[in-house]
Amino acid sequence: DGQTIHELFDGKIGLTYNDFNILPGYIDFAVHSVDLTTHLTRRIKLKAPLVSSPMDTVTESEMAIAMALHGGIGIIHSNFATVQDQVNEVQKVKRYKQGFISRPQCIKPTDTIRDLMRIKAQFGFTGTPVTDTGNVGGKLLGLVTSRDVDFISEKRWGDLIKDVMVPIEKLITAEEGTTLSHAYETLEKEKKGKLPIVNKKGELTSLIARTDLKKARDFPHSSYDEVGQLRVGAAISTRETSREAVRALVAVGVDVIVIDSSQGASLYQIELLKWIKSEFKESPQIIAGNVVTVAQAKMLIDAGADGIRVGMGSGSICITQEIMAVGRAQGTAVYQVSKYARSRGVPVIADGGIRDVGYITKALSLGASCVMMGGLLAGTTEAPGEYFWGPSGVRLKKYRGMGSLDAMEAHTSSNDRYFQNESDAIKVAQGVTATMRDRGSIHKYVPYLVRGIQHGFQDIGVKDLFTLHANVLNGSVKFERRSPNAQLEGGVHSLHSYDKRLF
Ligand code: XMP
Repeated sequence: DGQTIHELFDGKIGLTYNDFNILPGYIDFAVHSVDLTTHLTRRIKLKAPLVSSPMDTVTESEMAIAMALHGGIGIIHSNFATVQDQVNEVQKVKRYKQGFISRPQCIKPTDTIRDLMRIKAQFGFTGTPVTDTGNVGGKLLGLVTSRDVDFISEKRWGDLIKDVMVPIEKLITAEEGTTLSHAYETLEKEKKGKLPIVNKKGELTSLIARTDLKKARDFPHSSYDEVGQLRVGAAISTRETSREAVRALVAVGVDVIVIDSSQGASLYQIELLKWIKSEFKESPQIIAGNVVTVAQAKMLIDAGADGIRVGMGSGSICITQEIMAVGRAQGTAVYQVSKYARSRGVPVIADGGIRDVGYITKALSLGASCVMMGGLLAGTTEAPGEYFWGPSGVRLKKYRGMGSLDAMEAHTSSNDRYFQNESDAIKVAQGVTATMRDRGSIHKYVPYLVRGIQHGFQDIGVKDLFTLHANVLNGSVKFERRSPNAQLEGGVHSLHSYDKRLF
């Protein structure tokens, strides 16, 4: 009954996620016991197989922090004005400490209560550190809380902060290096809401808020490096100046570098890959790509790739297959490349075409170790850009292909991804500019994706990704092609209207 994966991909026609179903197996375990631990690269493990795409409408530091907190990882895009801008984003992730506010809003002792009220109205803070410069890094002089000013009548709002603050002599602070649990105990014991952290010189380095600490304990699967910092990746292009970018990114501790190209089998990529591998004593992990054939994958693995990114023209905003006539159906590409890459011990990241949770489970079943998503994450709070209202009253965010004219005109690195010469007057777009509906915060959306994948695994009857891969290969997990009619049947149908809320 059903087909093995090898029968499904018999080589006659390119298939994608929508062309097949996985047949159900036997359930003898609870859904939350499904373990999604996986490899992103040869060396890097993740607790959730989810990666956010290096696109300028998807991944900057805010997205990368949220993805890593939930066990995945974000890859910072490279379409910035300068390399330093990208490095800064990587650093924000690396410096992020759960519960520690690294850039707290501060105030000067010579500012007025009115200034504080403005900060409070804008940010809603209940405790603001007072420093000589009015910024983090300045000498800590005191703390001013709601309690100190709430009952002061508006007539006195011209009074100075230094006259109402709790001065440093009376303040509970902690030294840099304090652990979160120690900070939490201190806050509880002293019944305080805010704990300023200072260095040996008495300068404010960060702030701990009790409310954040409570939230901090909700991320048991976060992706940390060896020294307890969140993991983060960064994309580079194959141009000459990328070597400089690699040095700068490695210097701030980037965990993985993604060589970002729409067609990975190029002299430029292979030379860059070999250079990175030979240049650093301890080379960063490198994900190379994109590829869709075994021959392409072999070239990049031979050159030292630690992970292979698979996909050409399958992304939601992609028009590569239409314009370049080149690409491959994503299901076949993931299956063929994963089969080969596994024999070389290199994980595969299935990139593009993930429309919903089930597509993730399917990509993993075809041999991928992780999936990379652009469109699915582009409408979330943590994606760069502001929301705006669409004509039908839906909240939207912009989402654009990195090969769209829009992105290529913004900066130069997008040109490189698609082998376009910056000075060439004739541009050939390989992507479009679009909008995505509001999907809420990653802090809700990614846990939903994770739980959705766990449910899929439970239905298949496998408790972890290792077992899924093994059982697919040995033929005990079965698949079935589905007709266009079956595809329609699999979606919602025959309804007058329906509520689109999913979680
Ligand atoms: P999804 O389907 O998740 O796809 O939105 C995201 C992936 O699409 C690729 N990408 C592009 N491909 N033209 C293309 O042909 C483009 O302009 C473009 N921009 C992004 C990329 O691999 C991304 O991760």
